[in-house]
Amino acid sequence: MTDRPTTTTDAGIPAPSDAHSQSVGPNGPLLLQDHYLIQKMAHFNRERVPERVVHAKGGGAYGVLEITEDVSQFTRAKLFQKGARTESLVRFSSVAGELGSADAGRDPRGFAIKFYTEDGNYDLVGNNTPIFFIRDPQKFSDFIHSQKRRADNNLRDHNMQWDFWTLSPESAHQVSFLMTDRGTPASWRHMNGYGSHTFLWYNAKNEKFWVKYHFKTDQGIKNFTAEEADAQEPDVHIRDLYEAIKRGDHPSWTVQVQIMPFEDAADYRFNPFDLTKVWPHADYPPITIGRWTLTRNPENYFAEIEQAAFEPANFVPGIGPSPDKMLQGRLFSYPDAHRYRIGTNYLQLPVNRPKSPVHSYNKDGAMTYVNPGDPVYAPNSMGGPVADPDLWAGESYEVAGEIVRSAYRLHREDDDFVQPRALWEKVLSDTDRDHMVHNIVLHASAPEVTGDMKKRVVEYWRNVHKDLGDRVAKGLGVNDS
Ligand code: NDP
Ligand code: HEM
Repeated sequence: MTDRPTTTTDAGIPAPSDAHSQSVGPNGPLLLQDHYLIQKMAHFNRERVPERVVHAKGGGAYGVLEITEDVSQFTRAKLFQKGARTESLVRFSSVAGELGSADAGRDPRGFAIKFYTEDGNYDLVGNNTPIFFIRDPQKFSDFIHSQKRRADNNLRDHNMQWDFWTLSPESAHQVSFLMTDRGTPASWRHMNGYGSHTFLWYNAKNEKFWVKYHFKTDQGIKNFTAEEADAQEPDVHIRDLYEAIKRGDHPSWTVQVQIMPFEDAADYRFNPFDLTKVWPHADYPPITIGRWTLTRNPENYFAEIEQAAFEPANFVPGIGPSPDKMLQGRLFSYPDAHRYRIGTNYLQLPVNRPKSPVHSYNKDGAMTYVNPGDPVYAPNSMGGPVADPDLWAGESYEVAGEIVRSAYRLHREDDDFVQPRALWEKVLSDTDRDHMVHNIVLHASAPEVTGDMKKRVVEYWRNVHKDLGDRVAKGLGVNDS
């Protein structure tokens, strides 16, 4: 009768009707035996998985990393060898809003990349800022709670945000970034990405280096003003990326690294593992190593983006963690979130599955469909896979000390305000400064922000720079000088 395929149930059985439930006579009640109707309703009720507890709203695409320079003296990682081309997936996101929130609001942006390397997945789960608000994972959930909704009225609350920030002076650098127009990027294509943390690289001789990653947008930085951001439709960034890729306008980023010799870390002027600090370019100039280009949209957003699971703990031989406390906390947190949000076998889903063979002794669990085969234990005398410690020998280095709960040991120039001050004094243009003051004043003028809090806000910015604090005081009507 028709060339179109027949509708089926999810079990592949031809469906009896696309429109009518089974009833007792045309006007009668429905029957429990209408399995097709019941499957449809029951499946619909299970369409959502929990949204990410942070970075819920986002979008993504596939791309390729091409390495153009020889950095084999720093890392043996196969994806970073000259000439290597590695397929990858990115998910860009905002942080604090829920799944349906507006793309353009003031927030850092997630910049999470999964590289499908021949040695398994390497995930670089960064942001569009090279720094973060805090330096100890102990504070992460508290920080996020201050960005989300209050317990009583279920509203976001700027008083709560300034309360946390002004009581956490280490936040000043990241809040400075956030309050410039980089806090409202015009699109995901027009922002940089940073690995943010310091990571370990080791070469074929197991010589070690510390590394920071910078993905510099080839489209140029483009931001919204606060007023422009407010005027955008909620899905502006998802739409922009999808449509650019669809019309063949493939966005790209120049990939750079800063390399610090392993021994420099001990007495570098800043603590090089402190996530609230950058490494000034004059000390460790960025080196270009390649280009990363987005070439393909996902075909099924839910399967490929919503269920994408990035984990900072996914390193490949040649790369390892640094002692950055925030990174150490994240190594645990993400796979734990995925097991809860998606399920034990999230790594078997096509988007998360490595393109290289998996020879793991883990087995079973909900929704297993990969058969690891026998033997199912190690050690065994059945010819099963065996680990190769040599691949990871470069990761080892000596650490000793007392068990404590304490702040980082201070380095010579460590101070919470010195780097945001450099941003204000040396980097921002006059227009950038005007916009930063305007954005702070707008944010701290929300009706819920109390008079006392406004004074603390002024004090916070005076610590960054007196002029900045004075201008914020004027804008907020705080007369204290
Ligand atoms: P440099 O003058 O060598 O570098 C400053 C960097 O700041 C630029 O290369 C650019 O890096 C970034 N930048 C430019 N305009 C803006 C802006 N409007 N808002 C935010 N960042 C901007 O100085 P230093 O390396 O000594 O760093 C000075 C300050 O610059 C730091 O304290 C930090 O606040 C900021 N910065 C430093 C970065 C680093 O890795 N050293 C990276 C980003 C900012 P990019 O193209 O990567 O954005
Ligand atoms: C998402 C925890 C710091 C970047 C998440 C998620 C959790 C989490 C639980 C949700 C994961 C999911 O459900 O898929 C933490 C903790 C941190 C921390 C405990 C500090 C201790 C950071 C930092 C960065 C970052 C410093 C960037 C440098 C991201 C990104 C995502 C994310 C990009 C979204 C990934 C995606 O697109 O799926 N974080 N985070 N986080 N985080 Fe963090």
